[in-house]
Amino acid sequence: MVTAIFPAAGSSRRMGSDINKIFLMLGDEPVLIRTLKTFSQSPRINFLIVVVNENDKDDVEELLNKTDGLKDWAIAIGGSERQYSIANGLKLLPEDADIVLVHDAARPLVSLTVIEEVIEAAEKFGGAIAAVPEKNTVKFIDAQNFVTYTPPRSKLVEVQTPQGFRRELLLRAYQQAEEDNFLGTDDSSLVERIGDRIKIVKSDYSNIKITTPEDLTMAQSLLPDEIQPAVTHSAALPRIGIGYDVHKLVHDRNLILGNVKIDYELGLAGHSDADVLIHAIIDAILGAAALGDIGQHFPDNDVRYKGIDSGELLKRVDMLIKAHGYKIGNIDSTIVAQKPKLAPYILKIRARLAEILQIDSSLISVKATTTEGLGFTGKGEGIAAYANVLIY
Ligand code: CTP
Ligand code: MG
Repeated sequence: MVTAIFPAAGSSRRMGSDINKIFLMLGDEPVLIRTLKTFSQSPRINFLIVVVNENDKDDVEELLNKTDGLKDWAIAIGGSERQYSIANGLKLLPEDADIVLVHDAARPLVSLTVIEEVIEAAEKFGGAIAAVPEKNTVKFIDAQNFVTYTPPRSKLVEVQTPQGFRRELLLRAYQQAEEDNFLGTDDSSLVERIGDRIKIVKSDYSNIKITTPEDLTMAQSLLPDEIQPAVTHSAALPRIGIGYDVHKLVHDRNLILGNVKIDYELGLAGHSDADVLIHAIIDAILGAAALGDIGQHFPDNDVRYKGIDSGELLKRVDMLIKAHGYKIGNIDSTIVAQKPKLAPYILKIRARLAEILQIDSSLISVKATTTEGLGFTGKGEGIAAYANVLIY
């Protein structure tokens, strides 16, 4: 049977995000899940090993547990380099795994056909890797940036994953690499240096590795039509979103509005810091991008968000829409509160939000109003906030 190992323990540095890119949404599901589901469709594969950072372990476990239709799986903890991550994954190989596939968790668009062809070729030749003909001319250069050699393009391929090997061969290659302190950029290079032949399996150009934010936009557009988000009909038009939130005023809580502490004898109740203004802004941003709502991204029954600084959530949402190719155009908002008087804080709140979002404070408007004593806000039972956000 076949076991597939998924390195997913990178730091997503080039994605420029605090969240591991394997959690980013692609269409209707996270990148990692899309990858694992495609492999789970192959009748030859019976076990999946996902290699993750210690920090992501609980999140991945939770995500996999709630996903239907996956083959049996296990989680290994990654190392400082991709190769070390895979070496850790190999320690969990089940007895019955005679073929091992390695596939970047960050390549969610791989096709079932390519997976099965790599398995077949690995059985036949010992090792097989997915690749596409090189489109660009590639050159060797020296340390002074002069060209030393131009290999003929027709003899070059660009290598992807999956890469598949007979179990013994791959284990021996990893063992030898460890003894020699050799660090390769793919698995095949470890096998090549112990002298075995590797077969090229023709893959698709669409099997891209999600590396920078542009890749996510590209991957989005390569998804089947039925799960295309509605962004594609007019990329030229800006998009607008609305957000609304209410929290109850109670004793013994701080009042935080727009990430600024307000002097008042009451505070807002909630699972997080209950920053009603930021919550409305977050919903408006997510709404503009049609990416769900705050409760979906940061569930209020999740212990990780208990008491969390909502400024941190805003930062993450900003990162998320950037990963989808959007930027914030402007924000307008209104806080509805009978008391306390908010005018003295408005400039400070705008400056703080501008700092969090790394945009000019002239793009952020914050207004406050009372309701003349009417309704729950008028009676001082709670505070509400509205926000509109334009993204482009
Ligand atoms: N990977 C891993 N362990 C590492 C480094 C990378 O398991 N120490 C995984 C990544 O999670 C990814 C795959 O290997 O699925 C390909 O790596 P890459 O695209 O470079 O991802 P990152 O290392 O996360 O990104 P970056 O290099 O931009 O930080
Ligand atoms: Mg990397």
